[in-house]
Amino acid sequence: MTDGNATLHFADDSSIELERIEATAGQPAIDIRRLRADSGHVTFDPGFANTANATSSLTYINGAAGELRHRGYSIEDLALNCSFLEVAYLLMYGKLPNRAELDEWEHSISTHTLLNEEMRSFFDAFPRRAHPMGVLASATNAISTFYDVYRRPTRKREIDAGARTLIAKLPTVAAWAYKKSIGEPYVYPSNDLDYVENFLHMMFARPVEDWTVDPAVVKALNVLLILHADHGQNCSTATVRAVGSSRASMFASVAAGMCALWGPLHGGANQSVIEMLQEIHDDPDATIESTLARAKDKDDDFRLMGFGHRVYSNYDPRARVLSSYAEDVLDRMETTDPLLEIARELEAAALADDYFVDRKIYPNVDFYSGIIFRALGFPSRMFTVLFAIGRLPGWIANWMEMNSDPDTRIMRPRQIYIGETARDFVPIENR
Ligand code: SDX
Repeated sequence: MTDGNATLHFADDSSIELERIEATAGQPAIDIRRLRADSGHVTFDPGFANTANATSSLTYINGAAGELRHRGYSIEDLALNCSFLEVAYLLMYGKLPNRAELDEWEHSISTHTLLNEEMRSFFDAFPRRAHPMGVLASATNAISTFYDVYRRPTRKREIDAGARTLIAKLPTVAAWAYKKSIGEPYVYPSNDLDYVENFLHMMFARPVEDWTVDPAVVKALNVLLILHADHGQNCSTATVRAVGSSRASMFASVAAGMCALWGPLHGGANQSVIEMLQEIHDDPDATIESTLARAKDKDDDFRLMGFGHRVYSNYDPRARVLSSYAEDVLDRMETTDPLLEIARELEAAALADDYFVDRKIYPNVDFYSGIIFRALGFPSRMFTVLFAIGRLPGWIANWMEMNSDPDTRIMRPRQIYIGETARDFVPIENR
């Protein structure tokens, strides 16, 4: 490295200079945009574990220290002092709103929560057993068909309106997908309720009885949604950027991100954690020890769900907040959950096991979130949907940032071809 740049030397004694890109915090980068033209080589980095796909001002993660900040504010400060819509505004517009800005933002969301009535037949077309993530991703594209202006928004006003529409309507879609799955009537949104109350009302109210919500439940769900709001270039966010880089609409890009999030290695892990803990609870042959043994067995594709992270080599700060919050919520709900005790035992055993310690595998955001979601009354099939509602402003903020970045190009990675070299065609008679 000379004066900050990198020199790449090749076996034939040739070399090329690569410029360094500085970060305001965290690792700098080596700019390889000239590498192929100047050296005839491409780089190889499956999963982009060492490759930045963009510069971004949204979220900073220090994986070694277990730090997470959005626009400079720590996740702990935001989770415990803000509402989810405040953090959504921060991610999308770069600053915490003042009172007038927040009032206007909340009003613009609360007055757009209704779905077009023609969407009712959309829900009727799905089987009751449909996984709500399949409904959510489909409905996100379906909503955009009612608003042609969002197909290719270019003006700020259209982009802001599209973002507001998605943030406003996603809880309604999620709640209606749930109501369809349990055979209960849809509950319409109310402009008189705040964002989280409205969602809980649509999820759990029934026409046959009065419904009230515990403010502690509203607070807990705000915290949970904030903890999921954004997280750098994770699989689903990178997918939103990949799809959006072809100038696909915000709705199509977010719908693709939802499909990526659904995977059990990503946002689907919160549902898998509860299934794993439930299995230990119900199956006399499944113990903490046998579960850890399976996770370490290379011949078994089982993973310790809710553990490990591509970026964190320390405790995920979101898991730290959730770990202490779980007890508070259960106490407030005057309930207990045997799975929490099992989770504590599993965590203690893993953190004392060389396999996990050597690989710096710690609990991540998904390990405790499901226990709290359960305590708030949500079924496990809704957990990844809750993750998606939380991550929506992060996806939108990344889509907006990418579309305003002059460095943005359509995402089209290279490959290393290892197949057959050229060979002569053989007619079928001779094969
Ligand atoms: C999220 O990227 C983000 O920011 C994601 C997220 C967000 O907010 O968007 O934080 C949300 O997706 C959290 C992760 C939820 N997923 C899970 O909890 C599923 C279980 N975790 C793993 O599958 C895994 O840890 C990943 C997918 C999260 C990360 O995988 P990596 O970075 O590709 O690591 P790897 O698979 O290469 O593992 C490295 C080693 C391997 O062992 P060796 O080959 O070195 O012997 O660690 C082992 C792995 O086998 N390992 C695990 C493990 N996680 C890693 N072994 C058992 N159980 C695990 N959970």
